[in-house]
Amino acid sequence: MCGIVGYIGKRDVAPLLLEGLQRLEYRGYDSAGIAIHANGPGRAGGLRTAKAKGRVRELEERVPARFNGTTGIAHTRWATHGAPSDENAHPHQDAEGRVAVVHNGIIDNASELRARLTAEGVVFTSETDTEVLAHLIGRSTAGSLEERVREALRLVEGTYGIAVLHADFTDRIVVARNGSPVVLGIGEHEMFVASDVAALVSHTRQVITLDDGEMATLKADDYRTYTTEGSRTTASPTTVEWEAESYDMAGHDTYMHKEITEQADAVDRVLRGRIDDRFATVHLGGLNLDAREARSVRRVKILGCGSAYHAGLIGAQLVEELARIPADAEPASEFRYRNAVVDPDTLYIAVSQSGETYDTLAAVQELKRKGARVLGVVNVVGSAIARETDGGVYVHAGPEICVVSTKCFTNTAVAFALLALHLGRIRDLSVADGKRIISGLRRLPEQIGEIMKLEPEIRKVAAEYAEAKSMMFVGRVRGYPVALEASLKLKEISYIHAEAYPASELKHGPLALIEPAVPTVAVLPEDELIDKNRATLEEIKARSGRILAVAHGEQEQADHTIVVPRNEVELDPILMGIPLQLLAYHTALALGRDIDKPRNLAKSVTVE
Ligand code: AGP
Repeated sequence: MCGIVGYIGKRDVAPLLLEGLQRLEYRGYDSAGIAIHANGPGRAGGLRTAKAKGRVRELEERVPARFNGTTGIAHTRWATHGAPSDENAHPHQDAEGRVAVVHNGIIDNASELRARLTAEGVVFTSETDTEVLAHLIGRSTAGSLEERVREALRLVEGTYGIAVLHADFTDRIVVARNGSPVVLGIGEHEMFVASDVAALVSHTRQVITLDDGEMATLKADDYRTYTTEGSRTTASPTTVEWEAESYDMAGHDTYMHKEITEQADAVDRVLRGRIDDRFATVHLGGLNLDAREARSVRRVKILGCGSAYHAGLIGAQLVEELARIPADAEPASEFRYRNAVVDPDTLYIAVSQSGETYDTLAAVQELKRKGARVLGVVNVVGSAIARETDGGVYVHAGPEICVVSTKCFTNTAVAFALLALHLGRIRDLSVADGKRIISGLRRLPEQIGEIMKLEPEIRKVAAEYAEAKSMMFVGRVRGYPVALEASLKLKEISYIHAEAYPASELKHGPLALIEPAVPTVAVLPEDELIDKNRATLEEIKARSGRILAVAHGEQEQADHTIVVPRNEVELDPILMGIPLQLLAYHTALALGRDIDKPRNLAKSVTVE
């Protein structure tokens, strides 16, 4: 997905837009561009643009001197159609250069529209789908910019979050949303637009999140929202929960390190105000599921992508253990395409940090279409998935800027522990077990603090593994999702190939991969499976495999053991993943990788 930012007001627009792009660069960073009304609204000075392949800093070097105006739009790209290049960078323009468009999303019928426009004599200058929009808007002769944009959007199939400038309408920016986030920021005699509040909070915390099928016209002293058919809508501003400072690096070298070290506080936040000692349970306001409805749930199906899916696997394990309801997790990206049988007695839960992942959103929409009850376990308040679901649990991790998920993954797992405890205590989980789990939850922040003290040891171990050509991660039952997530973390930021397997599955084939050059990370909670897990270590050692164990005590079969504090057996997976976040971090650091913006990735994939 991409980052969009726009401004109209009295201030010099280019520095504001470039600062906004810096804030959004985690959403996509292979090229960037900017377009402004030269000389500002009310005076037709034409449009000026600057574009550059690479990071926002390359764009900053391209912006010419005296690039002055008070209205503009800008974009940082994660390529979907067309390789990263100056030509494919947004904004895209019509042939006369009177229109500039920035776009996040995918136009599914772009090739058909491109062919039609080419046949009409339009000459395309990029490989992107977005350029089609610029030409469609540019060729319209409708009386208003709003109508010109609506005319173009009526021909478009697919997803978009767009901002449009037109040289003949210098007093406004027109924006539209369908499937990709668009948020308006309301200032004093100035208006902002962005694809994420991260670009707005340093200027205003009063925001309006557009709905799918909604448009808006932004002027320096006014805004109005309406549907793509043109009928007015009433949008009430909300206040952004997160302070501007929470988007800063706060003295860390990377957002990832900051977010890993923030986890004790983040877990405090997801627990805050939710524990009910009197009934040894939790209160989850916003769940919109009363006790009678909760008791009628016969199954829980959890859906998410990537790390959110892995957190869902931990959640499924917790729901089965604490609430004794059959539960499983599945990648939302698969679920949405398989015409799943939707069961009215199943509670579906969509998991998403951003709340904007298109695959997960589409799965939710498919479920709603079939009459399912869907909850959301989401980090970003007011995000599309949070608004599409029937209720849910916010994980309160705070803004997570690093492309790879750490604190939000942990908070999501804790949120599932809360949900599982809630469902369990409505059913047959005993008061004693409820109290036991609550005591374990309350110990998590302090124990996370203890794990952070292991960082120097983990940094040393990481240096040993940085040269590995491939790594294997294994865990059994509760440990398996931890192994999956740790494997993804390592892949995402170190680019070392890694894969995770259920420990029991190793002997059914993957054991053939084990050799000294392919070390294994083994997740060994001191639970009822510890002896089976130690037997797996013996199998690996017998084939000269190197072993790094994460356990509650030294493991004699391991070449190195990272010993973590012990919590309740159901909650141990939450803690065991944290040293493996640090392992991935320090391995990537040793390899000199770009940790916050790993190649090819983006923070939230709002396209298919
Ligand atoms: C996280 O490390 C990854 N970047 C990725 O797998 C992410 O978890 C996935 O894209 C889902 O994102 P979401 O939680 O915002 O829906």
